[in-house]
Amino acid sequence: ERLFADDIEAILELKRKHNAVILAHNYQTPEIFHCVSDIRGDSLALAREAQNLEQDVIIMAGVHFMAETVKLLNPTKTVLIPDALAGCSLAEGITAENVRTLRKRHPGVPVVTYVNSSAAVKAETDVCCTSGNARRVVESLGVPEVIMIPDEFLARNIERETGIKMHTWSARCEVHERFTPQEIRQYRRMHGPLHIIAHPECSPDVVAEADHAGSTASMMDYIAEHKPEKVMLITECSMSDNLAAMHPQTDFIRPCNLCPHMKRITLKNIRQALETMSTEVTIPAELQEPARRSVERMLAIK
Ligand code: 13P
Ligand code: SF4
Repeated sequence: ERLFADDIEAILELKRKHNAVILAHNYQTPEIFHCVSDIRGDSLALAREAQNLEQDVIIMAGVHFMAETVKLLNPTKTVLIPDALAGCSLAEGITAENVRTLRKRHPGVPVVTYVNSSAAVKAETDVCCTSGNARRVVESLGVPEVIMIPDEFLARNIERETGIKMHTWSARCEVHERFTPQEIRQYRRMHGPLHIIAHPECSPDVVAEADHAGSTASMMDYIAEHKPEKVMLITECSMSDNLAAMHPQTDFIRPCNLCPHMKRITLKNIRQALETMSTEVTIPAELQEPARRSVERMLAIK
């Protein structure tokens, strides 16, 4: 505990010294999420907030694609990620070349890319989306079919919701693909009345077993609104830990799965990032403009 306290004090002091701000994704551990971060949220909220930052240095307590999005929106600022190896199975599951092949296969069909992707893939994209606005983004295009990449499950879930035909890719989130409908049904039998909320990176069969499906911000809103006695979040473990601290009256039933990439970020390496001003996130010059355009088009959709 004392070790946490030392790092927390040091980080708060270093933030002041360097005029730095810490953005934390909802999957960060509670000591990061509740004790040192300035801005917290889902991927969409973090991208939105990244448009209005006044500080000189931005630390992304999250994974690499999130830091790239922040850098795209803040090209002249120093953007740091405490561990440059904090990746994502979705972002690593598709290349820019793959996107070009898909476009050739489906000429004239717009490409909607989940923000969980590299800047190189975003640069080949018409518009980005997150799990929080995927339906709105897809519907805003007013077309009967889209290429929605790289998350096969997100695309299938949105296809089911909207009736719009999806050409997709085969990437999956290594955390959410592990949940099965059988285990969800078993938890319902074991625990009686239980609100089950699934992330749309889960398979459509898992989402079908849930009472609600949505982004991590939507999970937070659901709990604030319904104040359930018992809830099960079909997502990354820290989500339940962070929310349990905010809703002591609610019983958070696990299972949950850990994201090894999100868990690379620690108080220790946040402190180190601020002490050494590294690792700095950079984006190749030729990708900046086209990748930023895909993100900005998404942010313009209300
Ligand atoms: P959201 O917070 O946007 O729902 O994303 C979940 C996720 O897996 C981010 O890596
Ligand atoms: Fe990627 Fe899944 Fe980890 Fe999110 S939880 S960073 S989608 S691997």
